[in-house]
Amino acid sequence: MQNTSWWQNTTIYQVYPRSFYDSNSDGIGDLKGLIQKLDYLQELGVETIWCSPFFSSPQQDFGYDISDYYSISSEYGNLSDVESLIREIHAREMKIIFDLVLNHSSIQHPWFLESSSSTTNDKADWYIWTKKPNNWRSMTGGSAWQYCEARGEYYLASFLDFQADLNYRNPALKHAIFSMVRYWLEKGVDGFRLDIFNVIFKDKELRSNPSSWQVFPSEDNPFGFFQKPIYNLNQEETVALAKELRQLCNEFGDKLLLGEVIGSVPTIRRFLGDIENDGLGLVFNFEMLRFKFKASYFRKLLQETESNFPKPYTPVYVFSNHDRRRSATRLKGKQDKMKLLLSFQLCVRGVPCLYYGEELGMEDLSLPYSSALDPIPHKNKWLKRWMTECFDETINRDDLRTPMQWSSEKNAGFSAAENTWLPVHPNYETYNVARSAKQEDSLLNLCKNLLALRKKYKALTYGNVQVLNHSYPEHLLLFERSFEGERILVALNFSAKKLTKLGFSGEQIFPLHETSLNELDPYALLILKLS
Ligand code: NOJ
Repeated sequence: MQNTSWWQNTTIYQVYPRSFYDSNSDGIGDLKGLIQKLDYLQELGVETIWCSPFFSSPQQDFGYDISDYYSISSEYGNLSDVESLIREIHAREMKIIFDLVLNHSSIQHPWFLESSSSTTNDKADWYIWTKKPNNWRSMTGGSAWQYCEARGEYYLASFLDFQADLNYRNPALKHAIFSMVRYWLEKGVDGFRLDIFNVIFKDKELRSNPSSWQVFPSEDNPFGFFQKPIYNLNQEETVALAKELRQLCNEFGDKLLLGEVIGSVPTIRRFLGDIENDGLGLVFNFEMLRFKFKASYFRKLLQETESNFPKPYTPVYVFSNHDRRRSATRLKGKQDKMKLLLSFQLCVRGVPCLYYGEELGMEDLSLPYSSALDPIPHKNKWLKRWMTECFDETINRDDLRTPMQWSSEKNAGFSAAENTWLPVHPNYETYNVARSAKQEDSLLNLCKNLLALRKKYKALTYGNVQVLNHSYPEHLLLFERSFEGERILVALNFSAKKLTKLGFSGEQIFPLHETSLNELDPYALLILKLS
């Protein structure tokens, strides 16, 4: 293995701290709670924890609206809890990455309070201001410009109105941000997940986007209708920023920069830099969140991903996160399908990224828009119609952020409080850690077993991928992983039919109990070591 970074072979588990484990019975998850559950994560076998933001924040967007990048929101804990978290994770030989929200701060951040107070203060230029708004749209609908009376000007807010975009063309702001990144690297963090990274730089002259007749949204056009976002997304300067951040991180060793860059594959690929992968280390490809449960879909996904992210690049495989429907909900709660999806995710080359509870098959809980805690459902109606009717998405992200299901005790064992910040999914008595751990054939145990196999067989972690032809093209996905002479065959049956006359041969390494090498049960996985 030449010059491989740890993060090219890692497995990521996303913790949404508010919903993971509540240690002080206030109904809200916290950092001490996460620390108490690290043994669970270590035993599960995941290697890197990505923790959604826990910095000081008015919590209008649950931490993605930061009011102080250096302090911790009191409901999650304090600085010494963060230090213990880093220490405890490292003691378990695991890694931790923080969620870095660089594009914007809360409008309650002291920087914004100063910047918005006049046009002449020291930080007047730390945000993006204009007297004449252009046509840019916010990612959550409507104009991206918000009026500020004190300045008689508009500030740019690419996401929600209380999240003001920072101006990286101002050297003092950029320096302040880089110092903050350095501060956390000095504390020993292993890297960062970068929130809406490709939105950071905007056109210097704030030119309006050209109009377009595209009515349906695409990965490349999250701003939606009637314009092409060429001046407010994916600017060259943002690619350069990725490289600068990478350089900064390199001063502290081998660190992971994982970009949330929203777009089609050619767009997101740019942020990884040139041949040496000198930009961000990894980027998400969100197209796969809207997967179709078909062998042909996953065969194409695997082939395209391999050709788009050839070594030394590493793809990320993600099917759920804190913004979009959970994969279990897309699969209508069908455990056998969830098992196969997870099998695919853990057997291909790349970094799998699991969202808390995905290992249990946790599903979305459909909650009313009117009382949503998530600000997006309250913003506008067209977005709701567009997302639900055209796109089969939900815009009430509360649905997919319900508390982790630990046991069949009160509040699913998440909290001893009377009320939890969001209700627990009523299916918690069936799907919870304590119960799943005891069921040999649970999704949880599948996850644990496959994570262990990935560690045991280098071909499964680093190996090249070759998709193979066979006689069941519609139902079977068959591929080989190979690394330094070790060859492993992976067969996944995407149909409700038993596939027969397969005639495979080799040493069976999965399932763990003996099975026929000639047939594959509906939705079954078979892994063989070839001689
Ligand atoms: C993307 C994050 O994933 C989402 O949760 C957040 O609301 C926005 N960025 C704004 O920071």
